[in-house]
Amino acid sequence: MQEIWTEKYRPDSLSHMVGHEAITQRLQAFVSQHTVPHCLFAGPAGTGKTTAALAMAKDLYGEQWRNNFLELNASDDRGIDIVRSKIKDFARTKPLGAPFKIIFLDESDALTPDAQQALRRTMERYSESCRFILSCNFSSKIIEPIQSRCAVFRFARLSNEAIATYIERIGGYEELYIEEEAKNALITVSQGDLRKLLNVMQAVAITSDTIAAHIVYEVSASLKTEEVRSILDKALAQEFEQARKQLRSLMIDRGLDGLDVMRDLHRTIFELELSEEQKMHIVQLLGEYEFRITEGASPDIQIESFLAQLTQLSPQE
Ligand SMILES: Nc1ncnc2c1ncn2[C@@H]1O[C@H](COP(=O)(O)OP(=O)(O)O)[C@@H](O)[C@H]1O
Ligand SMILES: [Mg+2]
Repeated sequence: MQEIWTEKYRPDSLSHMVGHEAITQRLQAFVSQHTVPHCLFAGPAGTGKTTAALAMAKDLYGEQWRNNFLELNASDDRGIDIVRSKIKDFARTKPLGAPFKIIFLDESDALTPDAQQALRRTMERYSESCRFILSCNFSSKIIEPIQSRCAVFRFARLSNEAIATYIERIGGYEELYIEEEAKNALITVSQGDLRKLLNVMQAVAITSDTIAAHIVYEVSASLKTEEVRSILDKALAQEFEQARKQLRSLMIDRGLDGLDVMRDLHRTIFELELSEEQKMHIVQLLGEYEFRITEGASPDIQIESFLAQLTQLSPQE
């Protein structure tokens, strides 16, 4: 059976992480001084927050890392009380061969402010024996008293250069032939998210050792820049029915939902040659329609309504 690449290629040490140089240096300093403060890792998915916490634990504890490291999800379906009781059980026993244990709490920003207050008290109660690493997408959703007790690390999306290097590396390990155009496609669809990148690469590699751009778009449920261009061109030229047909068939073909389409439009808009005015209008529309879809409006109707609105924009604006 094939191992999942996101696990297979998860770096075991901070020194093997890609990008985030300033962050890994600070964490390595904690390791060499054997002192770790509570930490807050903030940033989008697939940028290495969990990986960095695990890698630091492995660098710090060596063979003993499993005994001294606990990973929990703050938004555990069974509720914050389960999370707190797991923390309590783990914190009760002494750290092995180390002055403190590490508790990694994923998705901390999913906790309500009240639950975060409780978490803050838990952090204080066990701070002798445990250090907390909280991970979140948005640090603004973490209450101030927790933020001020943590060293904050911001994980940015990985740069195109870092992603390109990483594609080469994985391609080398897996003995893949990656077409030049496919490299760009991989960079485009992964959007700085290495989990997405690895999943797409693995999905393509299952069918072929040669990675071609069109398969990358297929497996990643994405629209190509040229496809977006062509749909927008039709809509802006008031060819509503044509634009609608083309988008429909691509959506069915690739299994895209309304939000996927909004995401791809947003990603592509800035690569297209449109006037500032047009871009502004389109982005405003995207914001409006994305909101409606996330609020539960029918994606099919919203997408068509979006296209209809586009036909009202003047082409030479
Ligand atoms: N900076 C990085 N260097 C190397 N691999 C990474 C990095 N960031 C993510 N990855 C890879 O992507 C996968 C997902 O990363 P993860 O740390 O789980 O992301 P996050 O917790 O930020 O959502 C990991 O299994 C790892 O293989
Ligand atoms: Mg994670």
